[in-house]
Amino acid sequence: MTASHGAWFYHRMVGTQTEFLFGRSAVGHELAAMQQFTPPDLALELAKFGLAGHAAAPRLVLDPACGDGVLLEAAGRLLGTRTKLVGIEVDPALAIRARKRVPRAKILEGDAIFDFTLEADCVLMNPPFGGTATIGRVFGHEYRKRLGALNPHAKGPVDLAAFFLHHFAQIVSPGGTMSIIAPNTLAQGATRRAGLKPLLAKGWSIYRATRSAPWPGRAKVSVCIVHLHNGDWTRGCTLL
Ligand SMILES: C[S@@+](CC[C@H](N)C(=O)[O-])C[C@H]1O[C@@H](n2cnc3c(N)ncnc32)[C@H](O)[C@@H]1O
Repeated sequence: MTASHGAWFYHRMVGTQTEFLFGRSAVGHELAAMQQFTPPDLALELAKFGLAGHAAAPRLVLDPACGDGVLLEAAGRLLGTRTKLVGIEVDPALAIRARKRVPRAKILEGDAIFDFTLEADCVLMNPPFGGTATIGRVFGHEYRKRLGALNPHAKGPVDLAAFFLHHFAQIVSPGGTMSIIAPNTLAQGATRRAGLKPLLAKGWSIYRATRSAPWPGRAKVSVCIVHLHNGDWTRGCTLL
């Protein structure tokens, strides 16, 4: 891990949160919108169908933007103790909450994209989201440029969720799975071209997807839920 990246990123966020608390700024509202935690029943459903893509229990389940740990808790309820649970969270206060909530999980603190090199056979995530303008406004234009440098397919208004999808696809072993809750723009326009499209071209398969559903929380956003398998999928697919 390079602590400087994580620290830089987190200070950028803390600055924004302070602005939110005291100034109620538009940027603060955008950041708050990015921190929508998954309700436990939806977390359990995501974990259930993510694990259904495995013939045997995965060795390591990763949530790269783990918040307070709800997805890891759900995975832990479905899995024996031989599977490692690992979370990454950029906000230290949330990392502490995740450690308390899921004591058996290893929770790393920092920027999931820039600070760690990990491998996993199952990724579960509800990553932060927001279009190009949002990434620049909330995290800084330099951060958006660094994300762009990692993904040659990212052109135009790409949602942050597509950068997470593209990045974490590279650490999932063949035969592994990745399950994501994201704004339904994941399947549209520039965000699709930067995320789902190159994965499918590389041989990943979608084995279950909900195209669009209202977010079951306060944020007024429609989400999609996509379960992907790294390789050909020969069992039945479910598209809802
Ligand atoms: C939409 S919330 C979801 C949290 C949790 N996975 C859930 O399902 O409830 C996204 C989380 O990602 C964290 N986050 C944002 N950018 C991050 C980054 N670059 N690396 C790691 N965590 C990040 C936020 O602090 C927030 O807790």
